[in-house]
Amino acid sequence: MDNSKIKRYTVTAALPYTNGPVHIGHLAGVYLPADTYVRFLRSNKRDVKFVCGSDENGVPITLKAKKEGITPQQVVDKYHKIIGDSFQEFGISFDIYHRTSSLTHHQTASGFFENLYNKGVFTEEVTEQYYDEKAQQFLADRYITGTCPRCGFEHAYGDQCENCGSTLNATDLINPKSTLSGEPPVRKETKNWFLPLDKYEDKLRAYIESHKEWKPNVYGQCQSWLNAGLQPRAMTRDLDWGVEVPLKDAAGKVLYVWFDAPIGYISATKEFFNYAKLDVWNPKAEKYYINQNTVEKGNWEQYWKDDSTKLVHFIGKDNIVFHCIIFPAMLMAHGDYILADNVPANEFLNLEGQKISTSKNWAVWLNEYLLEFPDKQDVLRYVLTATAPETKDNDFTWKDFQARNNNELVAVLGNFINRVVVLTHKYFDGKVPMIMDIKPEDQAVIDELAQYPAKISASIENYRFREALMEVMNVARLGNKYLADMEPWKVIKTDEDRVRTILNVSLQIVASLEILIEPFLPFTADKLMKMLNYGGHLWAHAGQMNLLPRGHQLNQPVLLFEKIEDEQVQFQIDKLTKSKDENTLANAVAAPAKENINFDDFSAVDIRVATIIAAEKVEKTKKLLKLTLDTGLDQRTVVSGIAEHYKPEEIIGQQVSLLVNLAPREIKGILSQGMILMSENSDGKLTFVAPVDKHNNGSVIK
Ligand code: MF3
Ligand code: ZN
Repeated sequence: MDNSKIKRYTVTAALPYTNGPVHIGHLAGVYLPADTYVRFLRSNKRDVKFVCGSDENGVPITLKAKKEGITPQQVVDKYHKIIGDSFQEFGISFDIYHRTSSLTHHQTASGFFENLYNKGVFTEEVTEQYYDEKAQQFLADRYITGTCPRCGFEHAYGDQCENCGSTLNATDLINPKSTLSGEPPVRKETKNWFLPLDKYEDKLRAYIESHKEWKPNVYGQCQSWLNAGLQPRAMTRDLDWGVEVPLKDAAGKVLYVWFDAPIGYISATKEFFNYAKLDVWNPKAEKYYINQNTVEKGNWEQYWKDDSTKLVHFIGKDNIVFHCIIFPAMLMAHGDYILADNVPANEFLNLEGQKISTSKNWAVWLNEYLLEFPDKQDVLRYVLTATAPETKDNDFTWKDFQARNNNELVAVLGNFINRVVVLTHKYFDGKVPMIMDIKPEDQAVIDELAQYPAKISASIENYRFREALMEVMNVARLGNKYLADMEPWKVIKTDEDRVRTILNVSLQIVASLEILIEPFLPFTADKLMKMLNYGGHLWAHAGQMNLLPRGHQLNQPVLLFEKIEDEQVQFQIDKLTKSKDENTLANAVAAPAKENINFDDFSAVDIRVATIIAAEKVEKTKKLLKLTLDTGLDQRTVVSGIAEHYKPEEIIGQQVSLLVNLAPREIKGILSQGMILMSENSDGKLTFVAPVDKHNNGSVIK
């Protein structure tokens, strides 16, 4: 969009599903770039509204509720708060963080649907869907399990087999069962309202093709959807959680979650302006987050319907089709709305070389990060921006986190600022000294500095935040090099006036840095602003030499960054691996059941509680331990294949279950009398099976 035409901006960040906390992948992919962009615009005094909220409808919420044994409303209340708090703590500066279970949203989404309905946009189609007769409800694909037609896995979901990864339709499953009642579902006819995307194909193509400047990953995905041909898509679903369909013959149906969720951006904007109008805003309403500093009276419609507004959606790559095809088609069908000017979608962030996975708990959760790295929001913001998956998937590692903190934030940015402020205090009582005489080497630095703000602006305006941050760090590098070359700590002995000039120039660089880092590192910028005792944050001033007037008093230096030690990152790595192991255990697929036996077969087996009283390795073997056991009946020797799992000294005193009437046999020349029972998981890990409370040796297990 032509810059001179832009009067205001509406910036949206994807509404996170409210069925779990947010992790670093969300932050890196969506919320940090969006926040950086918005802070940059505000620093340029642009009129911008930054809106987001919790995506609280849809099947994932109802599934989570079922899993946790609570109501969907309790699920969204819980995670709305966790997510909203995390965003606030990381300085994601939404004007409003709203929620789609709110009345304003229900009214807005339902009104939007009615508008399209009255225009005759939808087609009605009767299709056959799975229905649970016992639970008396239609089943979303996720509510059906059965045997995967591809790999034979017996617990595949109706939309996906987690064993072989295939995408499925519920109707593909062999022996489908409802997860609600366990009964096989029946097919039943149901009527739903479809958005005929095919009818908008030409308009959508023209829209996409007018945006060749979009990121190649986004543009490419849109092209391939269009080339594959668009199909009508149901905008209503048979489900009891969500925005009710505002039609008489639609009882028991709600709006498709991807119909209502993007409208959530609009309702959030509405509610932001409602808030200032006390007669409309109801303080008892559903709790959401509003930025008290930006509250203003105004008109939401300007931000959505006026074509001098630039609309930008920040999303992850799995959301591209919804924001570039389906939502625009909805807006086109309505007719009053502007379309997004850009949709800068990111790729995915991996963690330590593996895909981030909520179910495997392979993630760094924002709420946990701050418990372990209190006050270090900006370190994470920095690292995630510096490694953001802008053009391809990228990897976050704790070692890289440590290295970037220690080698870049501490050694470059923090070090430069600290030296300048400390020296100013040391030589000039913390007062900005006056420029005495500019030499060519000073002028060179001044000129170079002056180039940066425009360069950084261009990167940010083109959504290249990594590049922009690198340039910001180059300003700190420029300052560091200047100090190292000028050596004011030496010059002070002979020429105090020269040091005045050097420190003045250095201080102006520090003041520019305060402005330039703010979109990326807002917490650090605030600390620096206090340290410099000045107003800050105005982009137009960056790069200039008169930010801190001579004689201006600085406050005492505070340390902006500190080294992160090896133990701290090792702790994080261990924690990840540990929680993954625990989850693999929890999610492991059990071995198939054996044939039935009768009770007599079982009672032939004599299993007793026993205690290990001595243990040693069997020489020249890797797996065997020679154990001495107190069985309550006798003391006996058992050779057991557990040496790769336990060291002899750790298991002395361990109670175990012992099969005592196993015929004795010789193993490696030792007579083994019995067998210890072990539980083995699908990774082959062994653990003892023992009574939960200590029992006398010899107690019978039956
Ligand atoms: N909740 C969706 C997700 O996490 C994103 C919704 S974006 C919106 O993938 F536009 F629909 F709001
Ligand atoms: Zn499969």
